Parts: sequence; C-alpha cells; structure tokens
Amino acid sequence: MSATILDGRKVAAAVLERVRDRAAALFERTGVRPGLTVVLVGENPASQVYVRNKTRRAEEAGFVSRLVALPADVTRERLLAAIDELATDRSVHGMLVQLPVPEHLDPREIQRAVPPEKDVDGFHPLNAGRLLLGDDDGLVPCTPLGVIELLDHYGIPLEGRHAVIVGRSNIVGKPLLHLLLARHATVTICHSRTADLEATCRQADVLVAAVGVPGLIRGGHVRPGAVVIDVGINAIEDEAAGRDLLEGQARRLERFLAKGRTLVGDVHFGEVREVAGAVTPVPGGVGPLTVALLLQNTLQAAERQLGECG
Ligand code: GUN
Repeated sequence: MSATILDGRKVAAAVLERVRDRAAALFERTGVRPGLTVVLVGENPASQVYVRNKTRRAEEAGFVSRLVALPADVTRERLLAAIDELATDRSVHGMLVQLPVPEHLDPREIQRAVPPEKDVDGFHPLNAGRLLLGDDDGLVPCTPLGVIELLDHYGIPLEGRHAVIVGRSNIVGKPLLHLLLARHATVTICHSRTADLEATCRQADVLVAAVGVPGLIRGGHVRPGAVVIDVGINAIEDEAAGRDLLEGQARRLERFLAKGRTLVGDVHFGEVREVAGAVTPVPGGVGPLTVALLLQNTLQAAERQLGECG
C-alpha cells in the first residue's frame, strides 16, 4: 500500500485565497488593509528565511507588511521599546517576534510584551488560557491551526478518534492538544520520557510528529492505514542520515548529495508511506500552512480591532 500524500501547498493556497478575498472586502468596507509587522533580532539564517517568507506572503495577500530588523546585541530595553511602539501603532494589527532570540533576551518576557489582541503567534499567556478554556475570542498558534486545516480539507474525521501527538512544546504539541480535544478526539501526548513510544504511536488513528528529531517516526510506529502529520523541519548535513532518511526518493537524495544539505521531517517518509493511509511530506506539508494561518490570524485581529465581527 502507498499512502495518500497530503498536499500542504494546495491547502495553503486555498487558505490564502480566502484570506485575500476577505482582506479585500475589509478594505472596501473600511479603507484599511491588515497590517503585519515581524520583528527579527540578529541574523539567524533559518529565521531570515522564515521571516522573508512571512512578509512576502503578507504582501501578496494585500496586507501592509513590515520587517523590523534589530541587531543581535540589541538591549532588552531597546527591544521592549520597539515592541511597545508597535503595540500602540494603530496600523499594526498583528505582530510577532521571530524565535529564537539571542541568549541575553528572555522569550517569555517578549511574548508577554506583545498585546494579546495583536499576538498573531498566539503565544501570549492570555491567548494560551483562552484556548485551554475553549473561548473563541483569542488567537491560536498558527502551526496547530494548520494541522487542523489540513485534516479538515481532506475530510479526515477526528470525533471519537485517537490522536497521538509526539512532542509537548508550547508552540505545537500543547495547543494542538486543545484543538483536537475541542474536536472530540481522544488525545495522547508523547515526549522524551514516554516509556514505549512505538507502541503508543501504533494506537493512533491520527499521529502527529512535532519533536524536531529527524526521521524519529518509522514504519513500526504506524498502524496500517493511520494518518500521519509531520510537523518537523530539520536541516541535515550528515551523509549517512541523508541516505537513510531519503531512502526511496532518488531525486531528492541526488540533490542532497550534490548540495550537502537538505530539510527532512520527524517522520521517515519512505518507510511510513508504505504503512500509513495518508502522510504529509517535508517540505510541502504543514510548513506552507503555518504562514497561511498566520495571515488568517492577522486578518482576524484586524477585523476585531476595526470593530468587525471577525
Ligand atoms: N520560530 C519558529 N516557529 C516560530 C513561530 O511560529 N513563531 C515565531 N515567532 N517564531 C518561530
């Protein structure tokens, strides 16, 4: 059996089209375009790629998109002042500080400085609490929202199903737990101390990997016919790892060997696609959805700030 490949790019394009249309309608009614500002501290190459992608997509959707780039040695006070300035700027409806930030800065303090109504990452404690309580007036982290969007697009049922999440991060695992519970799934979270990861994963109807360990989930972790969602985005350079994880993907392996670097997920795609009913690829799975849902969150924030129902 070979699994259905869940095409995140296609689903993201559908979300972006919806967002573009709604943003255009908002502009017609109010004369205001949604504004997204991304703050980048330092020059982390991966963050630079992510941030460029976010700002470019925002422009394409008809948003007012801004990047505030601060040096790696920016002081805590200067960064908090920059956040405060954006917090009071009425043309900025959504804002985020790209993570990770340099060691001398405290990400928790930064997340608390972003006003909850502009917190399009959904990382502020108030938004985390609203999600936990099932309130629908908060902002929800983009990657877990993207996972649900993908499952819904493909008509994958959740009610009464067993979802197993591997990874307990504040950005993915924990918020996804609440979204899946709200959809009446039975949810298990696994992590580095889980006693028998393979056996627990094999119970899943829907298995979500979000730990940042290349190829952790192998064929043996998957019940035949299960749906497997790979949230991991890991850069690898080791040749033996590349040969293992790109097994059965001859063209990708060839490009990796030429370039010496590639991106893989937390799922061993070659093994899992032989067992699963459906699986997301990396790249082209959950990644594109994260950005699309960030724009949807920004639009929702703008609608609310402009006094629309959103
Ligand atoms: N770094 C990796 N993922 C994210 C994200 O979703 N938001 C922010 N702000 N930084 C990140």
